[in-house]
Amino acid sequence: MSHGATPPDSAIPQPLRARRAGALKGEARVPGDKSISHRALMIGGLAVGETRIEGLLEGEDVLNTGRALTVLGVEVARLGPGAWRVHGVGLGGLAEPADVLDFGNAGTGARLMMGVLAGHRFTSFMTGDASLRGRPMGRVIEPLRQFGTRFVCREGNRLPLAIIGAESPMPINYRLPVASAQVKSAVLLAGLSAPGHTIVVEPEPSRDHTELMLRHFGAELRVAAESDGTRTITLVGQPELEGRDIVVPGDISSAAFPLAAALLVPGSDIRLTNVGVNPRRTGLIDTLIEMGAEIALENQRSAAGEQVADLRVRAGRLRGVNVPAERAPSMIDEYPILAVIAACAEGRTKLNGLAELRVKESDRLAAIAQGLSACGVVVEELKDGLIIEGQGRPPKGGALIPTRLDHRIAMSFLVLGLVAEQPITVDDGSPIATSFPGFTALMAGLGGPIDAV
Ligand code: S3P
Repeated sequence: MSHGATPPDSAIPQPLRARRAGALKGEARVPGDKSISHRALMIGGLAVGETRIEGLLEGEDVLNTGRALTVLGVEVARLGPGAWRVHGVGLGGLAEPADVLDFGNAGTGARLMMGVLAGHRFTSFMTGDASLRGRPMGRVIEPLRQFGTRFVCREGNRLPLAIIGAESPMPINYRLPVASAQVKSAVLLAGLSAPGHTIVVEPEPSRDHTELMLRHFGAELRVAAESDGTRTITLVGQPELEGRDIVVPGDISSAAFPLAAALLVPGSDIRLTNVGVNPRRTGLIDTLIEMGAEIALENQRSAAGEQVADLRVRAGRLRGVNVPAERAPSMIDEYPILAVIAACAEGRTKLNGLAELRVKESDRLAAIAQGLSACGVVVEELKDGLIIEGQGRPPKGGALIPTRLDHRIAMSFLVLGLVAEQPITVDDGSPIATSFPGFTALMAGLGGPIDAV
């Protein structure tokens, strides 16, 4: 795989500090969607022939997926900024990897690739960084074993692990015990190699990028929605996937950071162009509008099956809200930044149904509660939620926040630093490169000062 990015040196922490900003102005384009980028590379690698991708996220997480595919015998080449070509080997065509596949910080990369490898008859070894090695993999291993795949793992189903692909994978019928697009996607990707129908029952709707992209590549996939919100996804196995062109929209989970800064810094008025607004991803926008935010979706359009819009965001007064547990899957990665916004809003915000946040890149419930509290915010950490007492004005700040190898914790507290009374420092900004390369430059372009310390 050839590309121009240099991996961050995780051994050397890069502290960053944000201080109070004047009004943010202007227009910016956030990097490509991380979820869609991983899927474009993997499904492109399983298709026959050439897939051309525009707008690929060139963050460390996605580059690790590209590197893993290269080790598995797929030709992955960078043609220019965000422009990539994948030469797919066809279903079942991956080669036994001669080395350990290292997914760095990426839960999505590791879990989806387990699905891809489940139906390939060779043994692969997989690892990741300290954060990923601490995350639970049993949720993916359990359904994949039902296909006939074998795993040898560390205690607690953790990485590093070995996957021994099934000789003749059998299709499964699986009901997801947690709302997780990663688990759903791993099962569907494994189901590609099995004959007959693989069925996934999803009690709560999670992001559907895998379903949309598999269809785009020619797979037959039926979705039946019931009145209680349950969805049954039926994939017809062993499809003829053919290389396709993909245009990756900007990541709404990255847009959330400049968007939050613009809502909070008085007098701000910005436009974020080309943001993916798949309805399974827009829970943050719904919540912010309930809080009184001025956010307009302009120029709505669709690209390769995904919905896209420009977001115009203006600063204004916000009030606390009660966010229902059912909304969690549509804004799962946005709770750290929502908690920061809630700390500046008027009144109490209650965030419910967040047990999953404890097993993200860090224990985000603890990281948010401890960080906000260090910045002078009154916050209560519940078993699966948070109660934040908004002060109707920015908090004191002036704290040093541990990043915990978590890009979104780093970016959330840097955004808080742009409005807090005193600057906020994060002890390590390097994990930001996993999902949002160019974050500080983009914020600086809008007028948000974040500096290396
Ligand atoms: C993702 C799904 C979510 C999300 C993650 C990306 C995906 O995880 O938190 O950042 O691309 O499928 P879960 O499916 O585990 O909730």
